[in-house]
Parts: sequence; C-alpha cells; structure tokens
Amino acid sequence: MKTVLITGANRGIGYEIARQLGNQGFLVILTAREKGKGEHAMMHLRGLGIDCRFVQIDVSDIRSIEAAYQVVSKCRDSLDVLINNAGIMPQTGGILEVRPKALREVFDTNTFGPLHMVQVFRPLLNEGSRIINISSSLGKFSSQSSDYSPAYGMSKNALNVVTLRLAHALKDSGIAVNSMCPGWVKTDMGGDGAQRSVEKGAETVVWLATEAPINLTGKFIRDKREIEF
Ligand SMILES: NC(=O)c1ccc[n+]([C@@H]2O[C@H](COP(=O)([O-])OP(=O)(O)OC[C@H]3O[C@@H](n4cnc5c(N)ncnc54)[C@H](OP(=O)(O)O)[C@@H]3O)[C@@H](O)[C@H]2O)c1
Repeated sequence: MKTVLITGANRGIGYEIARQLGNQGFLVILTAREKGKGEHAMMHLRGLGIDCRFVQIDVSDIRSIEAAYQVVSKCRDSLDVLINNAGIMPQTGGILEVRPKALREVFDTNTFGPLHMVQVFRPLLNEGSRIINISSSLGKFSSQSSDYSPAYGMSKNALNVVTLRLAHALKDSGIAVNSMCPGWVKTDMGGDGAQRSVEKGAETVVWLATEAPINLTGKFIRDKREIEF
C-alpha cells in the first residue's frame, strides 16, 4: 500500500487531495496544525472507507515537524508521496508597508515550512518518491510586477526556488520534486468567486502523485502541463 503525507489537510484542497488519493488506495497520513480539526477530518475520511491516520504538524514550527517525524518513522519505512499543501494568504498590505512579523509568518508557512518538511522527512524518501509543493500562479516571476498580495506572491516565488534546489539535490536519488498551481479554487482561501471546484483543484496534484512520469522533476505544473516559473 502506498503512503502519502499531506500538510494542512483538514480542509480545502489538502482535504480533497486526501480524499481522492485515499479512494485510490493510498494510506493517507493527514496532518493539520490543530489536533481537533485534524482528527475530525480523519474521522470523515475513515467514514468514507479511507485508511487514514492523523499526525499533528504546524509547518511553521520545525520542532513540530521533527516531533511528527518521530511519530511517522515509527510506523512507516518510507513515504511514496509528500505533499506540501499548507499555506496562508493574509492581507499584509503593499510592498512598501508589509511588516517584518507578517512577512516572516507568510514565509515560515509557505516557503520554509515545505523546505523543513523535506529536510526532516528526507530519511523516509527513497527512489521513486514524489514531492509536490503547492505553489500558485501568483508566485510566477511574471506575477511580481503587481500590487496584489506581495507577501504571498514572494513566498510562493521563493517556494518555486526551493522546488528547483530540491529537485537538483534529489535528482540522483530518483526523487521527483515539482511545484504546481491548482488554479483559482473555491475554498476559504480562494473565496466564493473562484470558478474551480476543489475536485478540479486537486486533480493535477493527484496526477503528479500517481501517473506523472517519475523523471518529471524541477518543473512548475498547472493542469498537467509545464508552465513558466
Ligand atoms: N484556493 C486557491 O484559489 C489557491 C490558488 C493557488 C494556490 N493555492 C494554494 O493551495 C494550498 C491550499 O489552499 P486552500 O485554498 O485549500 O486553502 P485553505 O482552504 O485556506 O486551507 C489552508 C490549509 O492550510 C492549513 N495551514 C495554514 N497554516 C498552517 C500551518 N502553519 N501548519 C499547518 N497547516 C497550516 C490550514 O489549517 P487551519 O484550518 O488550521 O487554518 C488549512 O488546512 C495553499 O498552499 C494555497 O496557497 C490555493
């Protein structure tokens, strides 16, 4: 049975990825920063017949990631798929106003969290493992000449650089690392105006976790196709 670990999977796109991969027979390690919310989501998935365990992770806190590694490594030798999904998009003001504390919070969650997840869980990643970083079109270089959500855009742009660095570092180990954009998805973050359902938002992540060629690495993917960083 293949194992997937997903961060921030108690709601939104992360929960939907867990549901879809669980339905494909994966053992789902559902992680969330709040125990109650994570256990609630786990119980829902179990109710759908999905083999699901909950482990608490606040991705912005490396000690929380290290504690989770101790728990997961006791029951699993390897992870087939690691999905860095947890993310935040707070209103932080324009580039000339954004405060250091707000910037740090966004980068700790969206950029350093995924990097620390890979650093800490590296012993469970083997040839054929896949790492998927959920980025955003707002992280593209071409999106940076904008006033819209600068902290979020910069953090996702830097996440894409993390993807490239990790893909290079892990290529000889046969581990694929890609960034992806789910599109504008109807979730708490995406809001009601978004056109995409969570089912559609999760589709390309599920493809990257299962059917995508394992030699596809170091890319930015949207709708199962490579896009420019
Ligand atoms: N929705 C869109 O249109 C869209 C577009 C492009 C990219 N994305 C990306 O897709 C991913 C999922 O977004 P979404 O729309 O599903 O967002 P969402 O509905 O707001 O869900 C975000 C999830 O991340 C979790 N999270 C936040 N900070 C965390 C932390 N420090 N540690 C662990 N978990 C944390 C949240 O947990 P709590 O419940 O505890 O807050 C929640 O489970 C994000 O990376 C986002 O940037 C979304």
